[in-house]
Amino acid sequence: MKKATKVLALLLSMAMLTSVLTACGGDAAAETTDATETTEAADTGAETADTTAAADTETEAPAADEAAEAPAAVTAQEGVLTFGTNAEFPPFEFVAANGVIDQYDGIDMAIAKQIAEENGMTAAIENMEFDSLLIALQNGQIDAVIAGMTVTDERKEAVDFSTPYYTATQVMIVKEDSDIAKASDMADKKICVVQGYTGETCVSDMGYDYEAFKKGTEAVLELVNGKCDVVVIDSATAQKYVSDNEGLKIVEDPEAFDSEEYAIAVQKGNTELLDMINSTIEAKLADSTISELSAQYLDADSE
Ligand code: ARG
Repeated sequence: MKKATKVLALLLSMAMLTSVLTACGGDAAAETTDATETTEAADTGAETADTTAAADTETEAPAADEAAEAPAAVTAQEGVLTFGTNAEFPPFEFVAANGVIDQYDGIDMAIAKQIAEENGMTAAIENMEFDSLLIALQNGQIDAVIAGMTVTDERKEAVDFSTPYYTATQVMIVKEDSDIAKASDMADKKICVVQGYTGETCVSDMGYDYEAFKKGTEAVLELVNGKCDVVVIDSATAQKYVSDNEGLKIVEDPEAFDSEEYAIAVQKGNTELLDMINSTIEAKLADSTISELSAQYLDADSE
């Protein structure tokens, strides 16, 4: 059955390759690219993420069962809600002298704190590599993931997502004098992405070669140093990098890059926590807290 789904996905992705070329990012693209993404994840040799991801795909049902049994409620009982993040993604999460949760600051950190506090708990942060977040969640090492994480169909197979709280898109960061004006101009350029981000999926779906870095700052440094021509990354983070570094600009191409939605991930079936998270998110969206936070962190000078 899983095999049939995969074959179907592969056929679909082949048949719809042309539309993938012009629509990258959100669920629409993810649906047709599941099969390819899985293969790529195995190829990149991304340490722990790989083996577990591969195992999960093959034994999907048991993995989900185990996840449901993992001690999601344990930390909650102690009154601590542990969020996993990768604090390399301003303005959503970054390390600062005085963060909202310990040394962690940003839009997501403020949201995490509010979710915990509104439910009579304290928020704790586990900072790790972006690629490790969903594995850590499935293992019960953290209760939820808040990391500017885009909802994709592939990720939805592994975890459950909250109500989305932010809409983004991929953009291209280039040098001010670059002749790149649209996504297809990247064809003969040196492209940099961050490993495991949706930007990597986009560029790979477009069929371009690229170099993947562990951190956005590393990719941007490569661009600043003239060692690459373009960095593909999420819009708000790109804005941050452009304001932190001279001589860079953002190029958008809405026809090539779809909108993406950020949401919080919990273990599959953890409806109790998901309901709690959703009620806070929905309230904070309704009373504009989240848009105010976004404005505040986007305007703020770099940490
Ligand atoms: N939105 C992109 C994704 O989901 C990038 C997120 C990166 N987040 C981070 N905290 N490093 O793949």
